[in-house]
Amino acid sequence: MTPHADRYNAVAVFMHWLTAFAIIGMLACGWIMSDMPKDDPLKFPLFQWHKSIGITILLLSVFRLVWRLTHTVPPLPDTLKAWEKYAAHGVHWLFYALLIIMPMTGWAIVSTSRYNIPTMLYGVIPWPHLPILPTLENKQEINHVFSNAHGFLAYLIVALLALHVGAALKHHVISRDNVLLRMAPKVLGGILKRFGGPRALGMALFALAISASPAHAKDWTVDYTQSKLGFIATQSGATFNGEFKSFKTGIDFDPEHPTTGKITAIIDIASVTAGNGERDAYLPQSDWFDTRNFPQATFVSTDIGASCDGTDLHGNCGCYSANGTLMIKGVAKSVSLPFCLKPEGDHWRAEGKIVLHRADYHIGTGQWSSDDLVKHAVDVTFSIAAKPN
Ligand code: HEM
Ligand code: HEM
Repeated sequence: MTPHADRYNAVAVFMHWLTAFAIIGMLACGWIMSDMPKDDPLKFPLFQWHKSIGITILLLSVFRLVWRLTHTVPPLPDTLKAWEKYAAHGVHWLFYALLIIMPMTGWAIVSTSRYNIPTMLYGVIPWPHLPILPTLENKQEINHVFSNAHGFLAYLIVALLALHVGAALKHHVISRDNVLLRMAPKVLGGILKRFGGPRALGMALFALAISASPAHAKDWTVDYTQSKLGFIATQSGATFNGEFKSFKTGIDFDPEHPTTGKITAIIDIASVTAGNGERDAYLPQSDWFDTRNFPQATFVSTDIGASCDGTDLHGNCGCYSANGTLMIKGVAKSVSLPFCLKPEGDHWRAEGKIVLHRADYHIGTGQWSSDDLVKHAVDVTFSIAAKPN
């Protein structure tokens, strides 16, 4: 996996979900079989399945750990706070440890059992007991220790799983970043592609969430015929202008109480034009915007400030700053979007500019990655005409 990949590769995704389902099944199986009365005819076969699948998890996890230690994984988005990154990595490494310790304690239980039942994986492959343990004098006490440890670790896995799943869902539903999507199986992506790709579906759900949000009760109506989202970039020392012809913004904003507002935008990246046919042909390609996989960019404000923090916008206007998350090409970053609001005829106009660095969003990779031919700094400008409802 390249250091800048934005999702886990097929091996990592396959191993993750195979293990996840196996562990959840094993927890259920463990508790069910342990609670069964001794004479239940299902008890013995369940124990055998539990042991077979548990040993398989052990072998897969050793392979997975080696794979993990020899590969780089996509870095977590910069929008995560330092403690969130530590917590995420902490939970991941604890999981890796448990995926090995948990089946080892199970293996130790059967190796110290006074019944000395041999293990046949899936009824066909003989599996030995751990060395030394079966010959120990006090193996019954040791058996108790491992049995208690096995039961305790099961609860620890459940607690970690709650944190892990809670965090994954929080990222998807509240932070709306790509943390969950980057571990989503490609096969799911293939099915979703029929509906425009997983990200498009994500964005559609996201758009639905925006429009359903109660904060939108008194939003503004944007006049797109008089609005523009453009950019100014530099190629071979000469600047050129570009534009995204199609975008949607949601504005819920009271200039008297700006902090209660919310601003969102969904930009249709394929609508980009950059002043000449050659540029228009290569911008959608994978080195640049990769519009097939990343058809939309999004901005969601988290808070709006009542000043533009010294940014030199035009005078005679109310100056604000929309802070939030901008996601382009699957990369989410915190940005502060200064804008100036002024009356214009029967409506208002919001104008602003932000300097983005294309390399931050992996735009213009490979032969384009240097700053020499196409400058990394790009001015993104917007001018939006809107009326409060
Ligand atoms: C017992 C079941 C599970 C185990 C043992 C497990 C374990 C792990 C581990 C070890 C990683 C780190 C991968 C790496 O960076 O090497 C990981 C990542 C991840 N898991 Fe799970 N997981 C489980 C269940 C789930 C479930 C049910 C979900 C979804 C709701 C989920 C979502 C994710 C996501 C989104 C990541 C990627 C996080 C990132 O981007 O760094 N996992 N999981
Ligand atoms: C890999 C993940 C594993 C998970 C998540 C798991 C989970 C569980 C759970 C939840 C229980 C019930 C604990 C209780 O009621 O106190 C249990 C019991 C048991 N497990 Fe596992 N197990 C795993 C692997 C294994 C392996 C590899 C073996 C043996 C080769 C094994 C052998 C047993 C035995 C013999 C019991 C009976 C209860 C006891 O004597 O303490 N387990 N397991």
